[in-house]
Amino acid sequence: MNKTSVSLAVFGALFAFGSQIAQAAPDWSKVPKRDVQVFHAGVTPIEWVTKKSDHSGRTGLVKGESCVGCHEEKGGLNFDMKRLAGKDLEPVGAPKTMNFPVTVQAAYDKDNAYIRLTFKAPAGGANNADKDNEVKVAVMFANDKVTAAAGDKTIPGDQLGCWATCHTDARTMPGADDKKTKYTKDGAYELMQWKSAKGAKAVDGSVTDKRNMEGGTAGVKAEGDNKGGTYTVTFTRKLNGALAEGKAVPFGVAVHADHATGRFHHISLGYKLGFGAEGDIKATKQ
Ligand code: HEC
Repeated sequence: MNKTSVSLAVFGALFAFGSQIAQAAPDWSKVPKRDVQVFHAGVTPIEWVTKKSDHSGRTGLVKGESCVGCHEEKGGLNFDMKRLAGKDLEPVGAPKTMNFPVTVQAAYDKDNAYIRLTFKAPAGGANNADKDNEVKVAVMFANDKVTAAAGDKTIPGDQLGCWATCHTDARTMPGADDKKTKYTKDGAYELMQWKSAKGAKAVDGSVTDKRNMEGGTAGVKAEGDNKGGTYTVTFTRKLNGALAEGKAVPFGVAVHADHATGRFHHISLGYKLGFGAEGDIKATKQ
């Protein structure tokens, strides 16, 4: 090594060290991107998904197939969007844009997980009841105990996305009590949400026998901005609870666009986020 390359190497090492201290959040330019489609699911709660006469996919589900395994093709979804927007599955009204991509990035270090979501939120929603928030973004992580019953069979939570929380009798479903929130029969989801209203607090909650919008132990922080219609939302939360190194954690994303409330969101199917483990998305170790 000549003199110049030695000093360059030293400088490089110092620079890397310095930037590590200055920068708690990950360098997103080094974190791979994975597009996940979110869609308007109409009235297709877990009871619908697990009933053979409604959904032929039930047969595959009880054999161990996941939603993504059947419904994701070439990065898109193979749903019949006309059917999902039609009167049978959407009696109230469907959004103009039935699906759109959300770019997901994930990273972690020994203390925290970092999730960044980038998307364009479409206008033209059918429900605009949230006056305060134009957009809300939620991520839910299932713990190991989530299951759903399909007749005499039990389907594990890692095949179900967020559907194990979505029931026919939950608020905004046709004829349901407006006080009844989403819930699980077994296990729990950790829920975090960012809201676009100025000064809104990040939600650090859970879904158990009801939805809890606080009381979580993940120390959730969320930041978001809207640049020319493109939202970038970054969550920071502890690597605790359902999340741990060496684990692939089932998760799903929901975007309430255009002031939507309740079930009028665009949701993803269930994916797995690997922390030092295989997954649909692998979190980059920082
Ligand atoms: C074994 C394959 C398979 C699996 C697994 C599966 N589905 Fe399906 N799904 C289908 C098929 C086939 C249809 C088409 C209509 C029908 O037969 O019910 C469908 C239809 C749907 C529809 C209505 C829209 C349409 O295109 O008709 C929704 C919503 C849906 N599935 C959601 C899910 C969710 C959520 C899961 C996971 C919890 C899931 N599916 C798992 C095969 C599957």
